[in-house]
Amino acid sequence: MSSRRVGDQVVALLAGGGYAEQVVVPAGQTLPVPDGVDLVDAAALPEAVCTAWTNLVDTGRLSRGETLLVHGGSGGVGSVAVQIGAALGARVVATAGGPERAARCRELGASVAVDHRAQDVVAAVREATDGRGADVVLDVLGGGALGDNVRLMATGGRLVVIGLQQGRTGELDLARLMAKRATVTGTTLRSRSVQEKAEVVAAVGEHVWPMVADDRVRPVVHARLPLDEADAAHALLDSGQVFGKVLLVP
Ligand SMILES: NC(=O)c1ccc[n+]([C@@H]2O[C@H](COP(=O)([O-])OP(=O)(O)OC[C@H]3O[C@@H](n4cnc5c(N)ncnc54)[C@H](OP(=O)(O)O)[C@@H]3O)[C@@H](O)[C@H]2O)c1
Repeated sequence: MSSRRVGDQVVALLAGGGYAEQVVVPAGQTLPVPDGVDLVDAAALPEAVCTAWTNLVDTGRLSRGETLLVHGGSGGVGSVAVQIGAALGARVVATAGGPERAARCRELGASVAVDHRAQDVVAAVREATDGRGADVVLDVLGGGALGDNVRLMATGGRLVVIGLQQGRTGELDLARLMAKRATVTGTTLRSRSVQEKAEVVAAVGEHVWPMVADDRVRPVVHARLPLDEADAAHALLDSGQVFGKVLLVP
């Protein structure tokens, strides 16, 4: 039973993404537009926040005081994951490409931001954690980063793969995994049932919407482009200059 009413302004987690002026979704996949957030900017939140929340908390079991590594803290998902991790009381380390993008990750709440173009990420994470490593790694890179991710994890660490930007396969050093009693896992939102999506959305409404209400989590919007310039929006994403989300507007 949903508390939504006809005429409410809502944002929605779609079944699997989509560009449209009108959409039909189950009520359980909607949330009210948070107070103090512009209706259009609010569209930057549901998919990124649901992805970050369920992978950090449900899958990664991130807890206060732990170290979280967010790969691509500059991305649509990563920029929100950095903020949620910090709001949960984790110590956040983020990677980004270039010094300015790394600095912006620090502005979002990362204690340490590593420029993956100029720095050795494994060494930087070890240095940032006095050699312990990261307790939870939110990874958008996949196969190509698997070896390094296992290297930089702490004992008992949890690697949660949500993207495959560096391929779907990689070599896993099982001896290292066993020695660390670490976990490698991965999830997609898209493959979940309507009920499972509704559960994630409800948890986000309960736990993350209050963080948005008191400004601990904000949508990170790089640009708004008209829907009929979707090709230009894709070119912008491909340029590697986007920090956060590009929004298509009617
Ligand atoms: N599993 C799920 O349910 C789910 C849901 C949503 C999204 N995703 C996936 O998650 C990934 C991220 O989505 P997104 O919307 O955040 O994409 P995005 O906005 O394009 O961000 C991707 C980020 O990856 C970073 N990156 C690229 N190469 C890197 C490297 N070598 N080291 C560290 N970071 C690197 C980029 O940062 P720099 O440019 O600063 O290097 C960029 O900010 C995508 O693969 C997407 O398909 C999965």
